Formats: sequence, C-alpha cells, structure tokens
Amino acid sequence: MKKIAVYPGSFDPITYGHLDIIKRGLKVFDEVIVAVACNSQKNALFTYDERVDLIRAVLSDEPRVSVDTFKGLLIDYVSVRQAHVIIRGLRAISDFEYEFQIAQMNSCIGKGVETLFMMTSLQYGYLSSSIVKEVCSLNGNIDGFVPLEVKTALRKKYGLD
Ligand code: COA
Repeated sequence: MKKIAVYPGSFDPITYGHLDIIKRGLKVFDEVIVAVACNSQKNALFTYDERVDLIRAVLSDEPRVSVDTFKGLLIDYVSVRQAHVIIRGLRAISDFEYEFQIAQMNSCIGKGVETLFMMTSLQYGYLSSSIVKEVCSLNGNIDGFVPLEVKTALRKKYGLD
C-alpha cells in the first residue's frame, strides 16, 4: 500500500520552511499532497490559484508531490484522498498549543488519521509567510527565505518590479 500524506496549510506564499518539511516528508512517504486550504480565515495576498501555481512551479522536479486545494474539513479531504497521515511543521513552542489542539480534534473526528509533526529545521525556525511578506513589502531582501519564483511574484504584487 502506498504511503500517502497530506501537508495542509495556507501557503500564502510557500517558503523554504514549507519546502524543507515537504522534502523531508518525501523521505518518509511515497507521496505528499500539498493541500492549500480554501477556507482560511486569513486575509490572503495571493489567490488560491496563484498559490497552487507557485507551489507547482517550485516543486516541478518532485514527481511524488501533487498540489491541490480543499474546502471544508481537512479530515474529510484526507479521507477522500485515501491518505492516513497529516504532516505539520512545528517551529517553536508557540506553535505547539494550537497544533496540539488541531491534531487532537482531527484525531477525534477522523478515526485512524494520524498527525505527524516534523521539527522545522533550525534555519527556518523564525520564518513565516507573513514576515516574508512584510520584509518584501518594505523592499527588503528575501532571497534566503523563498525561491526565486515566489520572490518575483511577491515583488510584482507589491509593485516593486
Ligand atoms: N517553516 C516556516 N514557516 C512555517 C512552517 C515551516 N515549516 N510551517 C508553518 N509555517 C508558517 C506559515 O508560513 C504560516 O505563516 P503565516 O501565519 O504568517 O501565514 C504559519 O506558519 C501557519 O500556517 P499554516 O501552516 O499554513 O497553517 P494555518 O494555520 O494557516 O492553516 C490548516 C492550518 C489549514 C491546516 C487548518 O486551518 C485547517 O485544517 N483548516 C481546514 C478546516 C478544518 O478542518 N478545521 C478544523 C481543524 S480541527
């Protein structure tokens, strides 16, 4: 049986922190589905299609990764995709409480679905999509945080190029 995991998130936009988790996830699973949540409460900069296109562009060399969007409960999506594991990255202690709550709820309502937490690599422990957007919007250098495709898209959004 193929080991399939879903890596959900807002990805507004994808950063090297997310890519690090995806690439490490591929060492554990046969296939990773990157799932962009369509019902995020967050006020997004990129549309869902733009986010999906960016993720596809930066992961075009990974045939075992697919990119999708989902609406509604994550656990329902996981079941439709016949995956049994949700991957989440943990950055700092501050992530723990929220992630713990979500994982417990998902475990309760989605019988048999496990959440696998991966510690974010040290160099990305402070990263978030919001902080990258803020630095970029103020014309700061974001080379070390996002791939070139994402940097180009961000700078265009902010009218910098
Ligand atoms: N490295 C760097 N940054 C990381 C990271 C990593 N490894 N992992 C997460 N982040 C950052 C993201 O960039 C994001 O930053 P931002 O807040 O500035 O945008 C932040 O951490 C957390 O974002 P993300 O991982 O995308 O989670 P989220 O809280 O936006 O979304 C969902 C979480 C989509 C999984 C959750 O809301 C969900 O499941 N929604 C579906 C509805 C549902 O089922 N609800 C019931 C849940 S019990």
